[in-house]
Amino acid sequence: MDRTFVMVKPDGVQRGLVGEIVSRFEAKGLKLVGAKLERLPEERVVEQYREHKEKPFFPGLKAYIMSGPCFLMAWEGKGAAAVVRMMVGATNPAEAAPGSIRGDFALDIGRNVIHASDSPESAARELGIHFAPGELIGYSRIDEPVLYE
Ligand code: TYD
Ligand code: MG
Repeated sequence: MDRTFVMVKPDGVQRGLVGEIVSRFEAKGLKLVGAKLERLPEERVVEQYREHKEKPFFPGLKAYIMSGPCFLMAWEGKGAAAVVRMMVGATNPAEAAPGSIRGDFALDIGRNVIHASDSPESAARELGIHFAPGELIGYSRIDEPVLYE
């Protein structure tokens, strides 16, 4: 089954949004298969955002991600990466649709509350950066028989 990497950024943790965010993915029918609160070391931040390493916003982004603990998660379900990105909303919260996490809880692109992998390929790569294989735990949701056709 498809898996994706999701992370509540330090602003989201400090604002007490972890529970609300977890609830949205749970209610959607996705399965939480990994989770931990962590202060990210520089190497993992650089690796996660390697496509942005030369961008002007990168130093500020790195400092922000390292400014406090992040809540890291692995979510499993049909089309997980695309479904989660839809629920997260546009990168700039000013353009994120109401009902999306960034649309409902953020104002500034530099404090947009949450990260989610942008494709199944990115998801595999980012899960590998942040989770050891033994930290991802498969199990059955009791509602699985009625979640899928
Ligand atoms: P990006 O991968 O483009 O967005 P997303 O998080 O939606 O995949 O950018 C990564 C993060 O970098 C983004 O969440 C917020 C930050 N960022 C800025 O601070 N300024 C910018 O102009 C951009 C494009 C991103
Ligand atoms: Mg991205």
